[in-house]
Amino acid sequence: MNHSIKLEAVTQPRTIERIVTGVPTSDGAGVKLTRVLTQNLQQRLDPFLMLDNFRSDDPNDYLAGFPDHPHRGFETVTYMIAGRMRHRDSAGNEGLLKNGGVQWMTAGRGVIHSEMPEQENGVMEGFQLWLNLPARRKMIPAWYRDIPSSEIPEYTTDDGVMVRVIAGSSNGVAGAMTREQTEPIYLDIDFPADSLFSTALPAAHNAFVYVYRGELAIGGTQLAENRMAILSNMPYADGVVLISSGPARAILVAGNPLGEPIVQHGPFVMNTRDEIFKAIKDFNEGCLAEIR
Ligand code: CO
Repeated sequence: MNHSIKLEAVTQPRTIERIVTGVPTSDGAGVKLTRVLTQNLQQRLDPFLMLDNFRSDDPNDYLAGFPDHPHRGFETVTYMIAGRMRHRDSAGNEGLLKNGGVQWMTAGRGVIHSEMPEQENGVMEGFQLWLNLPARRKMIPAWYRDIPSSEIPEYTTDDGVMVRVIAGSSNGVAGAMTREQTEPIYLDIDFPADSLFSTALPAAHNAFVYVYRGELAIGGTQLAENRMAILSNMPYADGVVLISSGPARAILVAGNPLGEPIVQHGPFVMNTRDEIFKAIKDFNEGCLAEIR
């Protein structure tokens, strides 16, 4: 799928409210990654709870993987730009996530899964985004979908900007996934030198851009490599305009805020402390996830 399209007009583009530098950390059994969206930004970037960026060509940084661990109360969206990861879960699902593919998992009431690299050398690069579920949907049955690269809609602009629409829609192109209420938009954008890209965004959506190659200009402010720009929310803004002077790659993520209390304890994200205690109890008693 590759359409050349004209960009829809954006007349009141958003500006940068704040630039965030990711925090180097390790997770799972010792996978090195950069946590870009940290817990202190969850209210501001509601409905998004976390964004991790991993990129390494040193197997010691990723080989240990993410052995069995639980989740409850939200969705995980894993985008593998390069590399191969095998996932297995308590509901009996298994799949191989590879180059350009996405795994969309709804933990709902509970899932126990593992995410293990299936390569012993080479580059492993990608993102894991956590998307909250509305209170009334936190305890739905677990669900997941593997989206191979070939099923992610793409388009190219007259400027030669290539856009992959993982979720939501952009310039009239519908993405691979939609979600009620949180209405996420998730784009991976590849810029040639001297190009401009714009896309409409609902004014109420919280939105951010993360540049993972090169740099971009947004509203006259430069955004350097490996930085996240939180875009300002202005009632009259109708989208965003991104300008690159050299080659660049970035993800653009936006979603409709839920405006509900967020209580996180590690892999559980609920609305109240009591619900967190219940999740821990269910996990300890072996009844967090429905085992098939
Ligand atoms: Co996980």
